[in-house]
Amino acid sequence: MLNYIHDIPTKLYFGEGQIRHLDEILRPFGTNVLLTYGGGSIKKIGLYDKVTDILNKGGYAVTELSGIEPNPRIESVEEGVRLCKENNIDVILAVGGGSTIDCSKAIATGVYYEGDDLWQMVASRHGVLKALPLVDILTLSATGSEYDGGGVITNLKTNEKLGNMYTYPSASICDPTYTYSVSKYQTAAGTADIMSHIFEGYFSRTEDSELSDSIAEGVLKTAIKYLPVALEQPDNYTARANLMAVSSVACSGIPEYGKQGTGWPCHAMEHELSAYYDITHGVGLAILTPRWMRLILKKDPSCAWRFVRFAKNVWGLEGDDDQALAQAAIEALERFFKEAGIPMNLTELKIDEEHFEEMAAHANSGGYLKDAFVPLTNEDIVEIYKACL
Ligand code: NZQ
Ligand code: ZN
Repeated sequence: MLNYIHDIPTKLYFGEGQIRHLDEILRPFGTNVLLTYGGGSIKKIGLYDKVTDILNKGGYAVTELSGIEPNPRIESVEEGVRLCKENNIDVILAVGGGSTIDCSKAIATGVYYEGDDLWQMVASRHGVLKALPLVDILTLSATGSEYDGGGVITNLKTNEKLGNMYTYPSASICDPTYTYSVSKYQTAAGTADIMSHIFEGYFSRTEDSELSDSIAEGVLKTAIKYLPVALEQPDNYTARANLMAVSSVACSGIPEYGKQGTGWPCHAMEHELSAYYDITHGVGLAILTPRWMRLILKKDPSCAWRFVRFAKNVWGLEGDDDQALAQAAIEALERFFKEAGIPMNLTELKIDEEHFEEMAAHANSGGYLKDAFVPLTNEDIVEIYKACL
């Protein structure tokens, strides 16, 4: 088990009605608020009215940045930084899913970025340690952006979608009832994202970080139990609450404590798909994951021990033949995603092999995938993409 440091400064307010704490959370930061949100779902569910009512009654001066895109664009970050500077913003209040929160993190940091080109900040180890305070109200269980410091920003002009560290939210309000309105498609995609955050750390060479592995298996079992319930009954509180709780834990780093890093191969490959084709992150991950699993098992059959644990502890499968158990676990996962209604191949998303080689080169450019559970070459990545067609 390797050394680790636990340092997550975000205060989570979890459960129905926690919005009642909003004023006391914001007040210490000041009264000039930048309210950020996406394409309007928060208006449809009445959350926008609830938030603005609290802000108006509290005497806050509110500036708005709306229309933040799924796979948020650098142009929205630029606009947000401009609004913060022009209006002397004290605190950013992000209301939405991972895209709104990620964009707001980049804005919070971008305000203090000294260069002219914010894309350079996104694309570099920018070293900006200062950021405006950020508070969020989560409306979609998926990315874990409510409980981590990272964000992912897209530049459609250069076909790049890049993750970076920005700032942790000071506080996140996680009320599962705000997710009742999330479509079946986004609910399934979000759960696939949660599960992928676990797979990326679970499939590691470290064998003796038992607490992390057990937390990881608990998150997976919770997601597997409650996704079908949330799809069947969108307003089932228990299902939505459990999915929201695992969303925050899965990407927090906690399920990887004590474990050797892996380079997060499925995320590296997926970010290329959304950079080139603007697809939903969780859908890309669901398509890639079983194909990645099959390739690494074929490339290095000795890694089957990890799949055997996955098969037994997560799917409850039994048997003495390790390779057969491993394959059965991968099939169970693929079936689970399919039954949740996720399109399980790239052809359905109108993606062909035209850009696979350049996407593989990009995905591998950081050099992280040589440290993966089973190291991946560019050729392996192209093979995985082709298996997804
Ligand atoms: O824009 P609005 O109108 O709000 O609609 C959104 C959007 O169309 C809708 N939605 C959100 N909450 C809703 C709702 N619809 C009805 N009811 C609600 N309560 O759902 C759609 C998708 O929203 P988005 O925020 O894009 O989804 P998600 O939370 O999955 O975020 C995806 C982004 O996060 C990045 C992804 O790459 C992607 O860009 N990630 C961020 C991470 C992080 N910060 O740590 C890690 C992840 O691995 C991921 O890469
Ligand atoms: Zn993800």
